[in-house]
Amino acid sequence: MRDLNNKFYVTTPIYYPSGKFHIGTAYTTVLADSIKRYHKLKGEDTYMLTGTDEHGQKIQEVAQKNGETPKEYVDKMAAAAKELWTKMDIKYDDFIQTTEIRHEKIVQKIFDRFMEQGDIYKGEYEGWYCVPCETYFTETQLVDGKCPDCGREVKLMKEESYFFNMKKYTDRLLKYYDEHPEFVKPDYRKNEMINNFIKPGLEDLCVTRTSFDWGIKVLKDPKHVIYVWLDALTNYITALGYLSDDYTLFKKYWPADLQIVGKDIARFHLIYWPIFLMALDLPLPKTILVHNWIMMKDGKMSKSKGNVIYPETLIERYGLDATRYFLLREMPVSQDGLFTPEAFIERYNFDLCNDLSNLLNRTVSMVNKYFEGNVPKYNGHPNEVDKQFEEFTIGQIDKFEEKLNEYEIANALQEIWNLISRTNKYIDETMPWALAKEDENKEKLESCMYHLIENLRKIAILIKPFMNDTAENIFRQIGIKENALKTWNNIKDYNKLENIKVIEKGEPIFMRLNVEEEVEYLKNIMKK
Ligand code: ME8
Ligand code: MG
Repeated sequence: MRDLNNKFYVTTPIYYPSGKFHIGTAYTTVLADSIKRYHKLKGEDTYMLTGTDEHGQKIQEVAQKNGETPKEYVDKMAAAAKELWTKMDIKYDDFIQTTEIRHEKIVQKIFDRFMEQGDIYKGEYEGWYCVPCETYFTETQLVDGKCPDCGREVKLMKEESYFFNMKKYTDRLLKYYDEHPEFVKPDYRKNEMINNFIKPGLEDLCVTRTSFDWGIKVLKDPKHVIYVWLDALTNYITALGYLSDDYTLFKKYWPADLQIVGKDIARFHLIYWPIFLMALDLPLPKTILVHNWIMMKDGKMSKSKGNVIYPETLIERYGLDATRYFLLREMPVSQDGLFTPEAFIERYNFDLCNDLSNLLNRTVSMVNKYFEGNVPKYNGHPNEVDKQFEEFTIGQIDKFEEKLNEYEIANALQEIWNLISRTNKYIDETMPWALAKEDENKEKLESCMYHLIENLRKIAILIKPFMNDTAENIFRQIGIKENALKTWNNIKDYNKLENIKVIEKGEPIFMRLNVEEEVEYLKNIMKK
C-alpha cells in the first residue's frame, strides 16, 4: 500500500506545445487533477505540477513556419495551455516551461554532474530519426521502414554525441522493480519494459544533439544541445527547486507520490527517468502510473482523418463535468478507451441523467412532499432494510477507495455508480409513497428520507474530486451548507445531519439529450 505521510505530489507529463490539445492529451491532466483533489479532500497537503516541453527540432520548425521565434511561439502556446486548464478547472500548483531559466540552469548542472561522474561520455551516434517524435530508432524498431510510433518517414542521421551509460544501472533498475511492486502501475507495464527493452540489452542513451540548436546548451561544449528527454524528464525536480538556492519545496514534496504518463512515453519514465534519479542519488517516485489512450473508431485522432475532438467542444455543449466524467469513466486499465459520439451521449443520458440526476430529483421532491422540505433526524435504530443499505453503502465506499488507491479510476467511478443504482433501488424497495399512506409507517418514512439524503451527501463527496460543480450542486439542493459535512473524514457516518432543509423545488442537474440530434452534432464537429 501507498505510504500515507500526509503529502501528495503528483505530476503530469509536460506537453509538447505543438498544437491544440485534444481530449486525449487532456486526459492525463484531468486524471492528475482528480487524484489530487481526492487526496486534498482527505486533508493531505497536495501539490500538482504540469507544464510544457519546449525544446527540440519539432518546436523550432513549427515556430519557423509560424514566422515566430521559438520562444515567442512556446510562450504563446503555454498561455493557451493554461487557458485550457482553467476552462477544465484543473487546479495545478505549478506550471513549468522548460525554457525558463530556473529549469535550464539546473539541467546544465545535472549534465555537468553526470559528466564528472563518468555517467556521460562522448561518442558518435547514427540512427533512424523521426523528427516529429524526436526519437532515434534502430533499424529493427522501424515498422515498414517508418517510425514505429507515428508511422511517418524517418531519416538516417549521424552526429557526434554524448551518451549516458545506461548499462551501468540496468541491474540496479531491475532490482528496484523487483523490490518495489508499487513502483509501476499497472503491473504489466513493468514486464513490457523488461521484455521489450531491458532483456534485449539496454542501449546507452544519446543525450545531446548538434543537428539543431533550439535546446539547452552543454556548458562545456556549446555546439551540443541537451537532448529533449534528459531536459524534459528533469522538470519534475527542477520545478521543486532541486540544486537551486531554495530547497523548501523539494524537501517537502520529493519523492513524488504519483507520476502519470501515457503509454507512449512509458519507456522514458520507467527506464531512463529512474536511472537518472539513481545517478543523482535521489529517491525514486513511489508510483508511476501508465495510462492507455483515448482512441477513435478509426484509430488515432488526427486532423487529416477528420476525427479530432477538442475538450472545448464537449464543455461548451455538455458542460465540464460531463466531459470529465466521460474521459475518466471510459478508460480501461488494460486497453485503450474509445470515444464515440454514441457512447458519450449514452453515458450522459444513462449515468448522469437517469441514475444521478433522477435520484436527486426524486429525493428532493419526496422530502418536500412528505416533510415540507425538512430532513428527518436519524433515529439511531435502523431496521433490517436500512441496516443492509448502510452496510452496502459503506462497503461501496471501501471498494471505491481500494480502486482509487490502485489508480483504477474508471473502476472507482463504477463503484460510485453501483452505489447510485443501489440507492435508486432502495427507493423502489422501501416504496415511500406507500409508507406515506399509513400514519403508523411514519418512522419508516422518516428513516427512508434520512437515508436517501445521507446517501446523496456521501455520493456528492465521492464524486467531488471528479465533478466538483455537480457535487456542490447536490449539496446545495439537499441543504448541506457546512464544509465539515462535505469532507472525507465523516463520509461513513450516519448520524451527522440535523436541521437540514432541502430546496423547495429540485433542479435537474442533467437533462436528457436527444440521442440522434447530438450524435449528428458531434459527428459534424469532428469533420471540421
Ligand atoms: O509526450 N489519449 O508530450 P505530448 C490519452 N513532451 N493520452 C494521450 C493521447 C490520447 N489519445 N495522446 C497523447 C510528450 N496523450 C512529452 C512528455 S514528459 C517529461 C515529456 C498523452 O504532448 C501522452 O501519452 O506528446 C502524454 O502522456 C501526454 O498526452 C502529453 O503528450
Ligand atoms: Mg506525444
